[in-house]
Amino acid sequence: MFLRSLVVVLGFLCLAKAQVLVDFQVVQPPPVPLKARQCTVEILQRDFAFSFGDPEIVQYTPPTDCGPAGSWAAVTLNFTVTSNGTQFDRLGIFTFQNVEIWRTSTPEPTTNGIIWTYVKDVSRYIPLFADPGTFILQLDNLIQTGLNGVYATELHATFFESSPTIPPAPKADKIIPLSTLLNNTGDDASVPPGFSINVTIPQNTVKIFAELYASGNGNEEFWYFNTANEFIPDLPSGTTFGQGPFREVRLLVDNQVAGVAFPYATIFTGGIVPTAWRPITSYGALDLPTYFLDLTPFVPLLVDGQPHTFTIDVASAESDHAINQNWFVSGLLQIVTDPSPKPTVGRITKYSVDPFAVSSTTGSVGTNGDVNVTVTASRKIEIESEITSGSGETNIVVWSQSLEYSNTQNYLQNVTIQNVFQTATGQVLSTHNGVEAVSDSFSYPLNINLTLLTPDGSSFDALFDHSYVRNLLPSPLIPKSDINNHQFATGFFIISSAGNSGNGTNSNVFSYSDSQGNTFNQEVNAVLNKITLDTESGSLARNQKILQPQLIPDPSALHGFGAARLPGGRIIHL
Ligand SMILES: *[C@@H]1O[C@H](CO)[C@@H](O)[C@H](O)[C@H]1NC(C)=O
Ligand SMILES: *[C@@H]1O[C@H](CO)[C@@H](O)[C@H](O)[C@H]1NC(C)=O
Ligand SMILES: *[C@@H]1O[C@H](CO)[C@@H](O)[C@H](O)[C@H]1NC(C)=O
Ligand SMILES: *[C@@H]1O[C@H](CO)[C@@H](O)[C@H](O)[C@H]1NC(C)=O
Ligand SMILES: *[C@@H]1O[C@H](CO)[C@@H](O)[C@H](O)[C@H]1NC(C)=O
Ligand SMILES: *[C@@H]1O[C@H](CO)[C@@H](O)[C@H](O)[C@H]1NC(C)=O
Ligand SMILES: *[C@@H]1O[C@H](CO)[C@@H](O)[C@H](O)[C@H]1NC(C)=O
Ligand SMILES: *[C@@H]1O[C@H](CO)[C@@H](O)[C@H](O)[C@H]1NC(C)=O
Repeated sequence: MFLRSLVVVLGFLCLAKAQVLVDFQVVQPPPVPLKARQCTVEILQRDFAFSFGDPEIVQYTPPTDCGPAGSWAAVTLNFTVTSNGTQFDRLGIFTFQNVEIWRTSTPEPTTNGIIWTYVKDVSRYIPLFADPGTFILQLDNLIQTGLNGVYATELHATFFESSPTIPPAPKADKIIPLSTLLNNTGDDASVPPGFSINVTIPQNTVKIFAELYASGNGNEEFWYFNTANEFIPDLPSGTTFGQGPFREVRLLVDNQVAGVAFPYATIFTGGIVPTAWRPITSYGALDLPTYFLDLTPFVPLLVDGQPHTFTIDVASAESDHAINQNWFVSGLLQIVTDPSPKPTVGRITKYSVDPFAVSSTTGSVGTNGDVNVTVTASRKIEIESEITSGSGETNIVVWSQSLEYSNTQNYLQNVTIQNVFQTATGQVLSTHNGVEAVSDSFSYPLNINLTLLTPDGSSFDALFDHSYVRNLLPSPLIPKSDINNHQFATGFFIISSAGNSGNGTNSNVFSYSDSQGNTFNQEVNAVLNKITLDTESGSLARNQKILQPQLIPDPSALHGFGAARLPGGRIIHL
């Protein structure tokens, strides 16, 4: 009897412990061969308390029980985190073999506790996983008065064995980091100023595909809300940052622009109204999108056996092209070499690239003090090369980018209303002898309406309507995918010395398909931390969720927030 009730009590405690809020980002489950033999290893386990400047650094050894190292069909990472108390969202940088392989951020905890799991397909980094090396997770967290949330993290890697019926994942011959190469912290660089590194490329390189990581932080967290310098004097001080809202991430080779990205605006979970992002985060918050460029046209320049300078920077549309502090950037090169060790030869036959985007700024200031500003920008890049490999094959490479950007901001009614309407769209295409190698058709519309409900701003609401629409072929080594996500979220927030509180809603319509025939659709809504709708379909649909999202609201999820972060540093202190 006693034992039996002990079991009941333990069962109840386990259940009670399980009632933490399950946070998640809408995303497709990784398209991996589930029928393959799988080997899961723990990469690291770490409680990030006061961890500023104190990353987790572990040594990795490839597993040998799912086939020879590097012969895997796929590799995924499972990052599972719990936290409770009050804490800000924090950036997480996963660096492996000096290459950034995942940029994430943390949902803000509740007093009753949160848990989230994100499973990421890292098959494109298999060349790194084939060798032993250093794995670093930088998650700079602060414990101080009012902030007690610890992030308790676990990271596992799962290796999928290849077999006669399940082929190994295609892979580059070498991955070269465009990073700080530091061994004691995450390897992203803070810009401005631009980050440069000298890199020597193998002389028999025939193809180079670049991937860029970039996100705005600090005074650049809400970069799309920054105002053109021309109109700063028309706004009360403390409402906005300058340098305008346009940002392009540029990759330069020996000081020549090789390609650019018009970035997607990732909103972190503490962004503007934290209540809008609980339990469903903003799209991209747990797995920030990256950008892919074909650098193959530069092969003729790079195969001389000498170091060449690669630069990543972020430029604005202001006359000095400067930005505020700061963006974190890094990149990597996926290198394909020829079977012949003979150096590749060739020449760049066309280079039609402006150093910066072409832009314009217009606006009006009303007699009532209202200010409206519109910034537009566009970009055309065309680079062509003729390349002959050591084994004698010739590749005609054509690389083009055609990108458009527009941002309108309204500052109305004594700046109690602040709206932004931004779109970034583009067509990116490279062909090798007429065959598509990299392509990216994207559209990132973003509309945020922020309204201060009290003159001191101690209560406010915001509406978010944004989409991530992207048909992407990152390189011939990675399947092409088509993602269409639309997210509409609202949040209401009260700042009070008795504790910050509020409420929110979040609805998402997501679809995914890829060149291997996988499909996934999800529609999921939340109101006041309660999931009110959740449907999945497609070949990747789960019979069972990784973690079951809450069907009953967690009352603790409506209060106990840290300070709100508003655009322009409009921090309200009571
Ligand atoms: C991810 O890891 C967590 C913690 O180890 C585990 O509970 C969960 O089942 C894993 N999920 C998947 C899909 O592997
Ligand atoms: C929540 O906080 C308690 C007390 O600080 C701690 O023992 C527990 O491990 C935490 N739980 C989670 C999910 O982090
Ligand atoms: C990091 O470690 C690698 C391998 O040991 C070494 O080549 C490199 O110089 C180190 N980086 C720095 C900045 O010390
Ligand atoms: C790259 O090498 C050149 C020539 O040696 C040198 O002047 C430059 O400072 C180097 N740049 C970096 C970022 O190391
Ligand atoms: C600014 O835009 C708002 C919303 O479109 C409009 O109502 C207002 O008249 C405009 N004011 C000025 C000064 O352009
Ligand atoms: C505009 O807002 C400021 C700051 O809250 C306030 O001091 C001022 O009185 C307001 N002006 C009007 C016309 O409401
Ligand atoms: C923001 O306000 C504009 C103008 O009032 C409106 O057209 C738009 O639908 C609003 N956006 C959202 C996300 O509600
Ligand atoms: C959030 O709270 C505000 C203010 O009490 C209220 O007007 C609004 O309807 C609430 N929203 C939801 C989704 O309950």
